[in-house]
Amino acid sequence: MKNALQFVDTNKQRFLDELIDFLKIPSISNSPKYADDTKRCAAWAMNNLKAAGLENVELIETEGYPVIYADWMNAGADKPTVLIYGHYDVQPVDPIEKWDNPPFEPVIKGNTIFGRGTADDKGQVFVHFKAIEAMLKTNGKLPCNVKFMVEGEEECGSNHLEEVIRTCSEKLKCDYAIVSDTEWFAAGLPTICYALRGLSFGEVTVTGPNRDLHSGTFGGAVDNPINVLCRMMAKLTDENGKILIPGLYDNVLPVSEKEHKLFSELPYNEEKYMEDLGVEALNGEKGYTTLERAWARPSIDINGIYGGYTGEGAKTVITTSATAKISLRLVANQNSMEVSKKLEAYLRSIAPKSVKVDYKYLHGAEPVLVELDSKPVKTCEKALEQAFGKKPVYMREGGSIGIVELFGSVLKAPTVLMGLGLPTDNIHSPNENYSLDNFFGGIKASIIFLEEIAK
Ligand code: BES
Ligand code: MN
Ligand code: MN
Repeated sequence: MKNALQFVDTNKQRFLDELIDFLKIPSISNSPKYADDTKRCAAWAMNNLKAAGLENVELIETEGYPVIYADWMNAGADKPTVLIYGHYDVQPVDPIEKWDNPPFEPVIKGNTIFGRGTADDKGQVFVHFKAIEAMLKTNGKLPCNVKFMVEGEEECGSNHLEEVIRTCSEKLKCDYAIVSDTEWFAAGLPTICYALRGLSFGEVTVTGPNRDLHSGTFGGAVDNPINVLCRMMAKLTDENGKILIPGLYDNVLPVSEKEHKLFSELPYNEEKYMEDLGVEALNGEKGYTTLERAWARPSIDINGIYGGYTGEGAKTVITTSATAKISLRLVANQNSMEVSKKLEAYLRSIAPKSVKVDYKYLHGAEPVLVELDSKPVKTCEKALEQAFGKKPVYMREGGSIGIVELFGSVLKAPTVLMGLGLPTDNIHSPNENYSLDNFFGGIKASIIFLEEIAK
């Protein structure tokens, strides 16, 4: 293992050069405009895995972007198999004018690399590519069996991956799964994430009159779809921040005593949190702390709302329809499809007769809550402590990773979320960046993890 760790130190520059090549490919999965680039990115990652010494490197084709598979299964049947998951697709770059450097021309400033995908998730998944390379090139073998599954549709809902996991469950069979696609609680504070929220994402359109109307001639007589939609959206939550969809809280699992203790031990400072966001006050469900609201309670947000005239200057018009995109974040033991049905029924129940309601479910993710005492979590604790010199803390995460729940429910593999990002990474935002300390330290943590899990 010593040799592998040394290999990391002597190959830093090359690792970085390769990461930069990976980052230069605009693998934006939500727009067909980048289809060729996204496929080219998959091919690039495959070649890198091959060069690292992985075997059976192949693309599993789907109706969407391909899933990269690779393995190294020569450690013997008595050694465990670890599945490493990540994603090679990235978010769009808008608003592009807010970037200090072009998003696909990565630059290093100090100890940080800037560019789209640096933290989410190319930089993090690449950590494991290089850990395997370091071990194979120094020892010619790995301490345990390893499989990679790297997808290209995470940022738009992992819509085809569920089928791959179900139909290829034999191929993907493993004892443990490891995912690096979350973040630490703070810089310098290694963190294990033990829960992800789920997601139910959809859009509602209300349609009124059959053509745009003069707001003077018809205003006050005909219901305006935008006014209607706003009234409906105002009924999603009450003044105490409680979501008003009937039955929404039915299966919500409360935060345990043990977790309350874990949360209270984190170095959370509400003043700093507000200052960082530029807000004077926070708001949410009454009776819960900010961390509980963001990690362990359902939440509902309108992500975009449009309709009518939005160009420059005035135009007095009552338009024909208005749309809102809505995300509902879910916690254990809610289910994305069930919740979507409840939301749709509620929207229909509060809509006036004057409009027609269409609800379209776009994608979802199931919530994840992993066992804190599992072997991979305990092993990860050791690996992070050895690599970064500090015992990790535990947190939940408010975001979602579409497919992780299936690792437990279909592959029956205990999972650890060894996130290596930081809260300052600006994921999904301009100036996304990644700490090189976390990148190189992460490679060492991955090496130690694989070594330890084999014991
Ligand atoms: N890596 C993120 C999940 C995440 C978010 C981790 C925030 C840590 C902090 C992932 O790539 C992501 O963005 N997920 C989407 C999922 C959706 C498109 C199904 C999300 O949470 O919105
Ligand atoms: Mn991600
Ligand atoms: Mn993301």
